[in-house]
Amino acid sequence: MSNFNYPNFPVSRLRRLRKTASLRDMFRETILTKNDFVFPLFIVEGNGIRNEISSMPNIFQLSVDGALRECEEILNLGIRAVLLFGIPKHKDEIGSEAYNENGVIQNALREIKKRFPELLVITDVCLCEYTSHGHCGAIENGDVLNDVTLELLAKEALSHAENGADIIAPSDMMDGRVAKIRRTLDENDFTDIPIMAYSAKFASAFYGPFREAAESAPQFGNRKSYQMDIGNSDEAMREIAADISEGADIVMIKPALAYLDIIRRAKDEFNIPLAAYNVSGEYSMIKAADEKGWIDGDKAMMESLISIKRAGADVIITYFAKDAVKLI
Ligand code: PBG
Repeated sequence: MSNFNYPNFPVSRLRRLRKTASLRDMFRETILTKNDFVFPLFIVEGNGIRNEISSMPNIFQLSVDGALRECEEILNLGIRAVLLFGIPKHKDEIGSEAYNENGVIQNALREIKKRFPELLVITDVCLCEYTSHGHCGAIENGDVLNDVTLELLAKEALSHAENGADIIAPSDMMDGRVAKIRRTLDENDFTDIPIMAYSAKFASAFYGPFREAAESAPQFGNRKSYQMDIGNSDEAMREIAADISEGADIVMIKPALAYLDIIRRAKDEFNIPLAAYNVSGEYSMIKAADEKGWIDGDKAMMESLISIKRAGADVIITYFAKDAVKLI
């Protein structure tokens, strides 16, 4: 973009179009709509369970009955999509509950799709909520085994598809998982189920509250051998390119706010739907500052969400979804 032929002050006065609310509204470049949002849900086993997550005001672990009520509320608000995380009672070394036909997500999927067939149900495919050690795959000598984990993830993804998932979202950051999941889905006649890949997922401190919600904190070490280094932008582009070549339909950047440059770069370099995950810590910081009276939480929320869309995101996964659509 060149300003070469533009008039200068005093002919040009950029404040002219900021004078009234009507002018500002008419010329606002970035606008949020109800179609932009995905609301995450944490599903637990049992009945009548509604546990507020202490570090995430107004966000709950819900048993399926509560999740159904939540889905109804979401649809009434005009939100079209949810992202499901499952928290099983039983965890083991390889996260075998993740592909149990009667597992927490499988049961939730059947119930939700039966009641609300029009709701877009995306499932997070990962093992950290299901493993006793809290890592995102099978462990050997203290590290996550890549290729063994691919087999487990493919089973989990297939089981989600069989029980009604509309979109499969692998969040583990193993190499080759999109290819493996795509092949498995295709071989089982799920050729039309899209994959939303958590492509550039950084080893971030902003996931803290989520790990309380999902009971998925690693029991030793950290996730740095599979999630990306926070300083890397070129590598993020390689991750995205790899996922697209393996069959991802939608790619995701996560977290969002500390990675707006990555979102913009991905938007410029790739012609593919782009999702951004406005993660738990980003939510909790605004909620906490609002509770203290230090910032206006609603305004800070809207400003954050607009920045994510302005950076280039087509879809925003956010715990603010319900709060935000009430204001648009
Ligand atoms: C991993 C996963 C994580 C989130 C979603 N899926 C975080 C982690 O690595 O522990 C984080 C989401 C959030 O912070 O809101 N399966």
